[in-house]
Amino acid sequence: MTTVYLNGEFIPKERAMISVEDRGFIFGDGIYEVVRVIDGRIFEWGLHAARLKYGIAGIRIALDASAIDGLKAVCERLVNDNGLADGEATVYMQVSRGAAPRTHYFPPAGTAPTVYAAASRFVVPRDQRDSGVKAITAPDIRWLRCDLKTVNLLGAVLGRQAAAEAGAYEAILLRDGVVTEGAATNVFGVVDGVVRTHPLGNLILPGITRAVVVALMRENNIALVETPITHDELRRASELMLVGTTTDVTGVVLLDGKPVGAGAPGPMTLRLQALLDARLYAAVGAGR
Ligand SMILES: Cc1ncc(COP(=O)(O)O)c(C=O)c1O
Repeated sequence: MTTVYLNGEFIPKERAMISVEDRGFIFGDGIYEVVRVIDGRIFEWGLHAARLKYGIAGIRIALDASAIDGLKAVCERLVNDNGLADGEATVYMQVSRGAAPRTHYFPPAGTAPTVYAAASRFVVPRDQRDSGVKAITAPDIRWLRCDLKTVNLLGAVLGRQAAAEAGAYEAILLRDGVVTEGAATNVFGVVDGVVRTHPLGNLILPGITRAVVVALMRENNIALVETPITHDELRRASELMLVGTTTDVTGVVLLDGKPVGAGAPGPMTLRLQALLDARLYAAVGAGR
């Protein structure tokens, strides 16, 4: 039996019900977060909590910072109660603006946000990481606040579906002639020997894995230039990488049917993968 968290209660998944008037359902009016948990320890909780607070404040949901901080213990209990404290898991959290009769403007003050969380077993996609993945390019049709991790994910859904229909893992999104990010990953590339990624701002999600990789590069004196990769540069990049909580660092080896670099994960991809692994598994000391 799977136990989930809904509005203050730990209950069997089958009993977790939300209103058909929930604004998450009606408008996609909510924020979500996904954390990685290794042997019961949440990876970079502080960064995830900060992003959750930023998103919740960004769309003006009335939820105290202390309630968001309290989700750490919720995640830990879900991991324990669902028998996921050994090995790897993810926890999905979602906060919507709550249930109220449908109006585009905000519901009456005092409408309680809906807070939901659920834990799942995570299987590290080792084969995919080792061999690299296929990707396609697709237009970035998303709105202009991609820095907010909202549950309104249609741009990502359509991008990933286009990728799936092409037998690919990810859609690399292009806006105004440059790569922003993937449908559900941040993108790094090696162009003319230099590692590049799109700068933070309203056009990309500030990925936690991106932040960790950027910090690891700095610590290891690996140069990074945070300027967008243009469409032309994308075509001649010697390496492309997708980074994310459930993707780690994964090389793109085929883009729109053409090999990237040598058609295998390149040296920078392997190096960043190893650095991220060391950070992920540092304190637990667990093998992968
Ligand atoms: C659009 C987008 N970019 C990047 C990421 C990677 O973020 P993180 O490293 O926090 O998982 C995600 C994760 O879902 C995403 O949806």
